[in-house]
Parts: sequence; C-alpha cells; structure tokens
Amino acid sequence: MITRRDFLKTTSTSMAAAGSAKLDSAALWIQRSVKPVVISDYSGWEFRNGGTENAVERAFRLITEGKDVLDALIAGVNIPELDPLETGIGYGALPNADGVIELDASCMHGPKKRAGAVACLQGVRTPSLVAKAVMDYTDHHLIVGDGAQQFARAMGFNVENDLNTENSRKLWREWKRRIDPEHWLDPNGDARKPIPKHQKDPGLEAGLSMVRDGLIREGSFWGTINCDGIGPNGDICGVTTTSGLAWKIPGRTGDSPILGAGLYVDNEVGAAGSTGRGEANIYNLSSFLIVESMRRGLSPKDAGMEALKRIKDNTIEKRLLNGKGTPNFNIRFFVLNKKGDYAGVSMYRAGETKFAVCTENGARTLELEPLLTGSPEDA
Ligand code: GLY
Repeated sequence: MITRRDFLKTTSTSMAAAGSAKLDSAALWIQRSVKPVVISDYSGWEFRNGGTENAVERAFRLITEGKDVLDALIAGVNIPELDPLETGIGYGALPNADGVIELDASCMHGPKKRAGAVACLQGVRTPSLVAKAVMDYTDHHLIVGDGAQQFARAMGFNVENDLNTENSRKLWREWKRRIDPEHWLDPNGDARKPIPKHQKDPGLEAGLSMVRDGLIREGSFWGTINCDGIGPNGDICGVTTTSGLAWKIPGRTGDSPILGAGLYVDNEVGAAGSTGRGEANIYNLSSFLIVESMRRGLSPKDAGMEALKRIKDNTIEKRLLNGKGTPNFNIRFFVLNKKGDYAGVSMYRAGETKFAVCTENGARTLELEPLLTGSPEDA
C-alpha cells in the first residue's frame, strides 16, 4: 500500500517531468486529504450487540480499511439496530400505540449526491439498509409503510411478523396500563401505582413517567442513531435510523427519514443529523440549516447552536413550553465539516449529555454543548 509520504515523493519526482497538469491534481489530492472521523449520538457508543465494537468504532475501522464511507456508517448503525437492548432503534424497539414497531431511516451519500429513505417500515430489523437500497436501486428518495415492506421483501430482506422482544412488549403493556388502568392490569397485582396526573397529553406523560421511573432510557424514548463520517479523501456521508417516538400514533413519521431534518450532507461542506423531538426539527429543517450555516463559514458548533436557537425561537405554543417559557423537550445535533472538525450540541444538558466520536486516537465520548441552562422540565 502506498503511504502518503511515498505518494508525495513519487508524485513530486514524476511531476517535475510531467508538467503542471499533474502538479494541479497532486495539489488537489493533498488539499483533500483529511483525517477520517466518525461521530454519532450516545447510542453509537453504548451498544455492541454482544460484539467487541460499537457503531463509531466499526464505521471508523471500515472507513480506514477503504470501504465506502456510507457503507461503513451503515455497518456501524446495524449494531444498535440489531441489539435487542437498544429500545429506540431497530429490533426490539419501543412500538407504536398499537404495539407494532414501525421504523424510519435515511442515508445520504455526499460524493454521489444521492439519498434514500424509508418510513413506517414494519418487520425489517435494519431499515438503514433498506434506505440504502432505495437510494441504490430506485429513482426515488422515500418509500413508506406497506410499500416500504413490499420493496424490502422484493429486494431480498428478511421480513418478520413482529420485531418486538419480550422487553419491548412488556414496556408497551406497562404504558397501556398507565394510560388506561381500568382495562389494562398488572398481573402481579401492583396495579395501583400512581398514574401521572398531567392530563394534557396522557400518552406522552405516561411515557415520560416511565423514563423518570428508570424503565426506559431517555435516549430511547425519542430513540435514534445519527452517524456521520468523513473519509481520508474528504468523502462525507451520513445515516439516521430510528423507531421514532415511543407509543406514537400509528403511521407517525418523525424527522429521521426527512432530508434536511434528521439528516443532511453536502460533500463540499459537511453533514448534520439529529436525535430528539422530530417535529421541532422538521418545522425548522435544522440539518439543512446547519449545513448551510457551515457553508457561510460557521464552525460546526456555532452552526448547531444557530439551529437550536431557531428551534427555541419558533417554539411558541404553550403546550410545548416549560415553566420558564423555553422548550419542554430536548433535541441534539451532531455536526461534521469538510475539514473533519465536529461538534455535538443540545438544547439542554439533560438526559443523555454525551456524544460519540472515533478518530485515529480511538473512540471516546464528549460532552454535548447545551444552548440553554436548566432542563426541559423546569417548572
Ligand atoms: N428524532 C426521532 C423522531 O422524532 O422520530
């Protein structure tokens, strides 16, 4: 394998003979050479599905082995998608209000300027791969619902009747019991555990009460993984995959499969993706906004902060505000630019406060930079 030093030595010798055209292309090669980086939300660090690598480690390893950046990132997010313990993504995720798991995913390939997505896909553990198949094999961007499942089956994916695990089913039954205790009972007789008093949105409140009671990770309630990476030649790609909001209205689709919201990539600028309350993100097309802000020269952190501020300013409905008049939800962005600089930002330092990164120095977690002090639940 030719090293960068060998490359520079041989190209400079041959260029002397071959003239300025080669000089220009070598200069371009040098300018475009960057150190590979993979970033993701915390689920890219936490889950290993019984193996030795997490998502950012696997994606980084494959990128440095020469694999296409998007294929590497998708191989990374397949880890939490297949992990039954990760209840926000793929197999064993928290289902919709009817107890059915519906998955959303998108992917975007910077150098190819192509993207694909699926929404409300039932029965396939790895929606990120189905999104990639939409990108690779169709002229379309987004296929949803039964059509997405039929497409997956036709493309050779294994389609299962039910992606629930005993754990995800148990949590769904507990949620039913909390919103409808007259009809759904605790078989152990502990049915009189207090039901949340907030009645403005009992389904949401019951779910959040399960987060507070430690039954569900906060990150899994809106559960998503966004993973973005840059390869040594400057290729940038991204993928986002999720089961969306726990106990959602069947058919509800969040930001993850929506380009510009849950994910956006421009190979000349950078990538951004998100986790958290998808509706707030869709209203502001924040990932697109972040990439455009970086195009104007903002750093990944400043671009992410600008999007958070936009979301905060556009959140004016009382039902979405806490006692301090700021959003009563969290949202996070993971941002990478063409130089390989990166940042993780969040509305609040609350719930999951870290994000994952893998570089030549290995994988680690870093603190997200919050826009606001306090928490979504401030009275
Ligand atoms: N961000 C995930 C969702 O809202 O569906």
